[in-house]
Amino acid sequence: MTIEAFSPISTTDHPKSDPIYRQIAQQINQLILNGTLTSGEKLPTHRALADHLSVTVGTVTRAYAEAERQGLVEARIGAGTFVSQANKPNWVYKSSETPSVNGCNFGYNIPPQLDRADMLTQAMQTLSRDPQQLNQLMLYQEPQGITAHRQLVAQWLQQKGIAIDAERMHFTSGGQHAAQLALSAFCHSGDTVLVESVSYPGFLSLAKQQQVMVKSVEMDAEGMIPASLDKACQLYQPRLIYCTPTLQNPTTMTMSEQRRRDILAVCQQHQVLIIEDDVNGLMPTHRPSPLVNLESEQVIHIGGLSKCLAPGLRLGYIQVPTRHQKRLNMALHNHSLMISPLLSALACELIQQGDADRILQQIRHDIAARQRLVAHYLSEFTLAHDRASFHVWLTLPEYWRLSDFVSAAEQAKVTVKSAELFTPPGCTTPPAVRLAISAPVNHQQLEQGLQILCELLRTDPVSDFPL
Ligand SMILES: Cc1ncc(COP(=O)(O)O)c(C=O)c1O
Repeated sequence: MTIEAFSPISTTDHPKSDPIYRQIAQQINQLILNGTLTSGEKLPTHRALADHLSVTVGTVTRAYAEAERQGLVEARIGAGTFVSQANKPNWVYKSSETPSVNGCNFGYNIPPQLDRADMLTQAMQTLSRDPQQLNQLMLYQEPQGITAHRQLVAQWLQQKGIAIDAERMHFTSGGQHAAQLALSAFCHSGDTVLVESVSYPGFLSLAKQQQVMVKSVEMDAEGMIPASLDKACQLYQPRLIYCTPTLQNPTTMTMSEQRRRDILAVCQQHQVLIIEDDVNGLMPTHRPSPLVNLESEQVIHIGGLSKCLAPGLRLGYIQVPTRHQKRLNMALHNHSLMISPLLSALACELIQQGDADRILQQIRHDIAARQRLVAHYLSEFTLAHDRASFHVWLTLPEYWRLSDFVSAAEQAKVTVKSAELFTPPGCTTPPAVRLAISAPVNHQQLEQGLQILCELLRTDPVSDFPL
């Protein structure tokens, strides 16, 4: 690790900002979590870090003491301070989806890895002070989740412009689970679902597993084209339509309000329900009305807190038209009886304390800064992007074949996702890749990955010369 991994300290005298020594301890925690600091590694000397961060040596001494108190590091007399070897959790997520430390992993749309440990600790402490509630949380509940929790989450979503009804919403274990419930509640094997011409692989895979046929609808810069949707409805008589109107995965497009109304009009005309996947809906500060606000009896609205708060909480939600409430209740009951009430209690604490809003703000800032870096390095190429999007969609120069580019990037230790993964069966794959720019562990690694990609994109693989 180089000392540059430590980023400048916020010295605002805002009453809520943490003291400097705690901010440094939090950075150490973050660097350990993201793999920049490894077990047994020596930390910079107090003097070196103090100079780098423009703080006093005493502040670094206090920060290291705090990190030691938290069990993150060990001071060895005369030798320095080292990342603790003991008590390392052996469950640390180590799949291939973990952002690589040496190269750059643009693979999965995970939120930037912020330090949420303090707020989680506080939320758990608050919960632990109420034994009666704790005992209640250990019991079976209604499939849709605890009413008070649903009211609180619904109110929070309403403040953010999503017309969710606490009475009708059901908690789920994330957005993926919500999509699965929608499919199993409304589709039988052999039914057809319409999707955008490039779509979220998690949904395509779910449809395949449930033996639901997938047909695609042409898109333009605003998503599904209403005339193509109308034609596909006539041709296939679909059971459901699935789309992501805000920050589509993978194209980043957001449907205008007019397009949303036009799409809903087609759904109404053909009496087909539309799944509005709104997992990215809280990311933009402003966006057109969600479909559920415009026509809630035509819409299955799904969303969750993965992108805007923490995927580990696994808290999502689904709302279906009133007449289908029982069907959803039954599907949830059959799947898992209910979601863990402990998780919804934690999420409610985080919302009530204002932590959820703070995290959302931090994620928005971080993503906007990452998108600026992408614009800086890749603006000469054909790029679909949005300042609030976790990813960008890059169309390759015509001299690159898709599979060659993905392998060349892999060889250069940069993971990108090929358009093949997003292409519904039977459709033509566009020559594009998705870059999950939220995944690299820090901006330094993001820049490193972007530089490598920029050089690769400028190189004609036939002549091997940079163009
Ligand atoms: C469009 C879309 N829908 C659903 C999901 C699943 O999200 P969750 O973590 O809430 O299950 C994702 C995750 O990346 C996504 O991109």
